[in-house]
Amino acid sequence: MNSKDNFAIDWSTEKIEAFRKTLLDWYDLKKRDIPWRHTKNPYYIWISEIMCQQTQVATVVPYYERFIQTLPQIEDLAQADEEVLMSLWQGLGYYSRVRNMQVAANQVLEDHNGEMPNTYEGLLKLKGIGPYTAAAIASICYDEVEPAIDGNLMRIVTRLFALDDDITKVSSKRKFRHIYKQIMDPDRPGDFNQALMDMGATVMTPSNPYPDPHPLIAFDKSYELGTAHLYPNKPKKVKQTEHIIYAYVITNNQGQLLLRQHEEGELNTGLWHFPLAEQMSIQEEPDYGSAITNWFNEAEIPDYSIQRIDNTDIPKVKHIFSHRIWHVERVMMTTNTFQAPEGMAWVNPQNVKDYPISTLQKKLLKGL
Ligand code: ADE
Repeated sequence: MNSKDNFAIDWSTEKIEAFRKTLLDWYDLKKRDIPWRHTKNPYYIWISEIMCQQTQVATVVPYYERFIQTLPQIEDLAQADEEVLMSLWQGLGYYSRVRNMQVAANQVLEDHNGEMPNTYEGLLKLKGIGPYTAAAIASICYDEVEPAIDGNLMRIVTRLFALDDDITKVSSKRKFRHIYKQIMDPDRPGDFNQALMDMGATVMTPSNPYPDPHPLIAFDKSYELGTAHLYPNKPKKVKQTEHIIYAYVITNNQGQLLLRQHEEGELNTGLWHFPLAEQMSIQEEPDYGSAITNWFNEAEIPDYSIQRIDNTDIPKVKHIFSHRIWHVERVMMTTNTFQAPEGMAWVNPQNVKDYPISTLQKKLLKGL
């Protein structure tokens, strides 16, 4: 573990032990009776975990039972016809999951003598098995202390510890794993994971941040602070819009380049770029000239004559801002004037580096 990744929790040993006891006592009393809770066969647990990734437990149960009746051994899965797999999975969606399972079943036959790997690390090597599924199987079947953290458990962990971290980030997930590992019960890791799965499904649900009764109330920091409804922190993904932009690469007959400093309210304010203009509609015919001639006209620069150099082999530059994707086409042009509209300047190519320029402009200069 990296030293900066030291996410020690502020719970005392007594509090951690009290948490384990409270959670597991609740589980022993209230746990849902689910068919795969009567087995430790890793093949069956694997099937149940993959199915549960897309569907609620109650819906999964009949699918699970049909699957293990039809394909009771891992060899049966490895050899099953495509149609059989598809019909067993029909209604669950995400068929790639069952196809991956079949690939993994063949891996198990070929590389592991038909026995599922019996460690978290070994399970991770199988096709379609990621950290969540590997941890679920390893904790339930082999008592490995591995956190099986899915979306539900992230909600619980972030509520319990009032963690503001953006749950979509890999670094946050790593942090949650470290925290979770500190509170896991080393004697009953599989039950611990499943107890929190049940807690997330039946008590600490997304729509119920302040459950009543609340079995974990004494351990729920965000409940105590009255901020439980703010967790988990999952920032809304901004929708990026795509834009076609022209960058006018204009040289005068002394070989100088025209640059324009971006104003307040524009992206990259204060930085210098080739004059840029957006094509207003994606469907529109390319309009190479009008924006730049407008600038010259408005500046009342006399007798400028702008000519486009047809140069189609200059590739477009793709540039991504937080909300926008720009596809920038460089339009090569010449002119005879040395005057520049306001906010623009003629710059000798070797002096461009002395101006503050953006990453985008650096990309635009490349390959010219
Ligand atoms: N969701 C996914 N796996 C589960 C399990 N083993 N128990 C309860 N809910 C689950």
